[in-house]
Amino acid sequence: MNVIIVTGASSGIGLAIANYLADKGHHVYGISRTKIHEKLVKGIQADVTDYEQLKNTYQDIFDIEGRIDVVINNAGYGISGSIESTSLDDAKNLMDVNFMGVFHSTKAALPYLRQSGGGKIINMSSVASRLAIPFQAFYSSSKAAINAFTEALHNEVSPYHIQACAVMPGDIKTGFTKNRKKNLQEVAIYEKRVEKSVGVMEDDERNGMDPEVAAKAIHRLVQKKHMPLYTTIGGKYRLFVVLHKLLPARFANFVVGAIYGFKKD
Ligand SMILES: NC(=O)c1ccc[n+]([C@@H]2O[C@H](COP(=O)([O-])OP(=O)(O)OC[C@H]3O[C@@H](n4cnc5c(N)ncnc54)[C@H](OP(=O)(O)O)[C@@H]3O)[C@@H](O)[C@H]2O)c1
Repeated sequence: MNVIIVTGASSGIGLAIANYLADKGHHVYGISRTKIHEKLVKGIQADVTDYEQLKNTYQDIFDIEGRIDVVINNAGYGISGSIESTSLDDAKNLMDVNFMGVFHSTKAALPYLRQSGGGKIINMSSVASRLAIPFQAFYSSSKAAINAFTEALHNEVSPYHIQACAVMPGDIKTGFTKNRKKNLQEVAIYEKRVEKSVGVMEDDERNGMDPEVAAKAIHRLVQKKHMPLYTTIGGKYRLFVVLHKLLPARFANFVVGAIYGFKKD
């Protein structure tokens, strides 16, 4: 049995992970802004943008359980629109939740993971961290930042038996699609391209994998003695990531552009 914290556990991937791990007998604490009403998952209301809230929450969990073994930094959302039209506030808020949230949670957890003799930090990245999606630049950037953070983190804390892993799922059917904040003040020349591009992405998400696929992948990571630094969820997405690595950067980016960027009408 491990003591496990999952951020963003009120819906989608986080909810599936929390329930799956709790069903396997782990003590699971789910963090989100809205209250979780699950039988086996202990829900705690907190916002990942508020470091003090997370610090107090993790201290409470450690006081109750006497240990914290695994932290799954999953909370996140998407925004879409051209870079030119994205407001400064929308870009900052996105980075605050998706990237700073991971930092806050990691910083709050590390002292307890060390006191527990070691543990695991699993950060929810995305295939979009590798294949940067036009008109979703800030989302892709937030996930690329998580990858770099995870690599540095792993080397800082592995001497204390703490491992880090960045998980890159492909499209998964969740509330993510309806929660995506769309820029409603798009610069006119981009409008049609943004609409088409985001439309392609939304279709992929609506026809995406079941969140349980991600839950099972995370469960395998929890069980592993040595986690990989990266793991991609979804067969075809693993292929995309490998191809992206092998192809010349300019060509790989051209292919992504052809799918999601669309030429001028
Ligand atoms: N769905 C996909 O295709 C896909 C693909 C790759 C990666 N991902 C990543 O997977 C993660 C989960 O996404 P999802 O698809 O499950 O979307 P979702 O259904 O919209 O779930 C997002 C979760 O994040 C929580 N959250 C958002 N802002 C928060 C904040 N400030 N503080 C605390 N919790 C917050 C939400 O809870 P509250 O609103 O209750 O706070 C919710 O539980 C995200 O990091 C996303 O980027 C998703």
